[in-house]
Amino acid sequence: MGPIPLLLLLSFVVSGVESEEDYTWHLRKVPQVLNKRTVTLSSPEFKAEAKPALNGTCGIECQSRLPLASVSDLENFLSYETVYENGTRTSTEVYFRDFDVQAVHAVMKDSHSRGKRQVYGMDSRFSISDKQFVTNYPFSTTVKVSTGCTGILISPKHVLTAAHCVHDGTDYIKGAKKLRVGILKLRSKRGGRKRKGSKRNKRAAEVKPSFQWTRVKRTQLPKGWFRGVTDDVAVDYDYAVLELKRPHKKKFMELGISPTVKKLPGSRIHFSGFDNDRPGQLVYRFCRVSDESSDLMYQYCDAQPGSSGSGIYIRLKEPEKKKWKRKIIGIFSGHQWVDVNGMQQDYNVAVRITPLKYAQICFWIHGNSADCQYG
Ligand SMILES: *[C@@H]1O[C@H](CO)[C@@H](O)[C@H](O)[C@H]1NC(C)=O
Ligand SMILES: *[C@@H]1O[C@H](CO)[C@@H](O)[C@H](O)[C@H]1NC(C)=O
Repeated sequence: MGPIPLLLLLSFVVSGVESEEDYTWHLRKVPQVLNKRTVTLSSPEFKAEAKPALNGTCGIECQSRLPLASVSDLENFLSYETVYENGTRTSTEVYFRDFDVQAVHAVMKDSHSRGKRQVYGMDSRFSISDKQFVTNYPFSTTVKVSTGCTGILISPKHVLTAAHCVHDGTDYIKGAKKLRVGILKLRSKRGGRKRKGSKRNKRAAEVKPSFQWTRVKRTQLPKGWFRGVTDDVAVDYDYAVLELKRPHKKKFMELGISPTVKKLPGSRIHFSGFDNDRPGQLVYRFCRVSDESSDLMYQYCDAQPGSSGSGIYIRLKEPEKKKWKRKIIGIFSGHQWVDVNGMQQDYNVAVRITPLKYAQICFWIHGNSADCQYG
């Protein structure tokens, strides 16, 4: 699709949402994920090759035959590694407080609603070509990760992306050693920043969005992603948080706990990323979720490699207010070949932000759990 009437598109998406349903961000008390012990490990080798697609992923059907995870399993999966810019690596064991494992197991029982599995239709991605849109909220929260992925701004200096963008399950990938994040900024050809309200429109016409790159100071990812720890549920842990060396000064998007599909307006999710087949363009799309488990969502949104790691977001009402607010409820893991009853089927897979993952990511951002009690 060419340049799009974006306002039209956005108003369509919003109007689809107005109904009797209770589409509200109900804040709940979340469990706490606390550090038990941190040990220093040897520096990573950074030898793994980046892989865009994962074959033979144990997806929703395959996972549904596995025994339910116990609290100690989950504490093991949410234990995490931290890698600093200087190569220092630590491993941290966690424990939970105020966590009810029965509630987690119950959540999906009554909500498991399988949507119709349609095949991929026409390409429904929209290149956001308007440079004002690209550099303004919400699209401005989308960032490029130097290993060829996408990420999303979740704090003044943190970026959420997919774990496979930095680690292949066994080792950190080569490009993760000098990891950088690119933020689209409007800059004139001479390199100076665009001055707002400039009378000289001719100059403004030359202004083009380009990436401003910032080094990553620290990378954190859950052990659940590592080979030999989870295996069949590794994809549930395909997320990582990058801390930037300098704050980015842009508006970021808040995290939210992923509601079940029934509670998504139009059963739809949204995300934008830097798809490989459209170099230099920010690509936006939205589509319906066709299946879900407690940790994953399947959908047939059109997506190409490069958009992995995108933040999946939705818009719900703020409690007690009329305003709608976007929050990130998942991470786009990518196009994957999924094991369905021993056969390989292709899906686009997204990792949901569960209460535990919310607590963990929030802890990584704030360094304490006092700021992470409700989500
Ligand atoms: C993954 O599996 C599919 C279907 O079996 C196959 O067509 C594809 O080439 C495989 N991709 C890789 C990278 O192995
Ligand atoms: C690397 O950086 C971390 C975090 O700033 C620090 O704790 C550690 O001592 C540093 N290690 C080396 C070898 O400089």
